[in-house]
Amino acid sequence: MSEINVADIPRLEDLESSLGDLSGKRVFVRADFNVPLDEAGTITDDFRIRAALPTINWLTERGATVVCASHLGRPKGEPNPKYSMDPVRARLAELAPGVELLENLRFDPGETGNDAAFVDQLVDGIDGYVNDAFGASHRSHASIVGLPGRVPAAMGRLLEKEVEVLLGLRNKPKHPFVAVLGGAKISDKLGVIEALLETVDGIIIGGAMCFTFFAAQGKPIGNSLFEPDMVDTCKELLDTAAAQGKTIHLPDDITGTDADGNFAQFGSRLGDGSIGYDIGPGSAAAFTDVIMEARMVFWNGPMGMFEDERFASGTRTLAQAMADTKAFTVVGGGDSAAALAQFKLDDDVSHVSTGGGASLELLENGDLPGLAALRN
Ligand code: 3PG
Repeated sequence: MSEINVADIPRLEDLESSLGDLSGKRVFVRADFNVPLDEAGTITDDFRIRAALPTINWLTERGATVVCASHLGRPKGEPNPKYSMDPVRARLAELAPGVELLENLRFDPGETGNDAAFVDQLVDGIDGYVNDAFGASHRSHASIVGLPGRVPAAMGRLLEKEVEVLLGLRNKPKHPFVAVLGGAKISDKLGVIEALLETVDGIIIGGAMCFTFFAAQGKPIGNSLFEPDMVDTCKELLDTAAAQGKTIHLPDDITGTDADGNFAQFGSRLGDGSIGYDIGPGSAAAFTDVIMEARMVFWNGPMGMFEDERFASGTRTLAQAMADTKAFTVVGGGDSAAALAQFKLDDDVSHVSTGGGASLELLENGDLPGLAALRN
């Protein structure tokens, strides 16, 4: 995929030019309503539904009939009541009365398979298509790549904002530009780390990922989670960063449990039987300094197991630094967005992305299958 410009993708105004008066036209809006639900099936965070409202309202204000569609969870190509869109439909009816919502697209295997017969079914009776599902635009699924090209198509306001912000980080970085990466697995983030090393001045590493880097440095990690088959890759990343004059900031203290399972704090060498679950207070303070001095910060992945209050402090301190810095701050979706919301700091950063995997893939490749489909 080649580098793109957001100006190359049709907007809602272009859709209106193609379709003429939108009044009475049926417009299919692919949204990402893949929202978190609790055990009882109640939505615990409706951020993704609210995020689609500017597009839905723009269309309904012009008299269009809006037909929304989304996936929810990962049902295996067949109906499953656990993944029914009913809770989303109820919330959408409160926020945007009169807007239709189809059943979970992934109840049909044709969605993930981008099957032509399923595309035919979705496009039947539809005049125009809008992709506002940023969080799913890295998937080559029927509703993302199959519909554009069949009817006039455009990106919605949310997709436009996401692409502008994330491509801005990639293509027009302001220095110092710092990436903060956490979470368990380096293997999930390898591509984006390699791509980020091209543009950033430094990468802060937290979460269980840091133990694979510690192992690469020959430090003992006790029983902490790590990826043995990624140790050599981490050595190469440390060498590449050093050769480019970039800094990979690793924690030099860790919070976790000792061999008896009791809460403990360590340096960056963990004894037998101990387990690290969070960066320590010294590292959180050092990382805060790096964030305060930056002009641009991208954060994806928590610094530790923040769901457990004993191990939330590293993630909370970094979330606070994201809120306090004067830098332009972007938070990738998923766990880091959930952490920000838990600490009630989500209004204090420049942009919270609705996409986890999609934001990483856009930073890595500079394009997404859903964006390519809209341009063709
Ligand atoms: C997400 O939650 O990241 C998006 O909705 C994509 O979901 P998926 O990973 O199941 O495709």
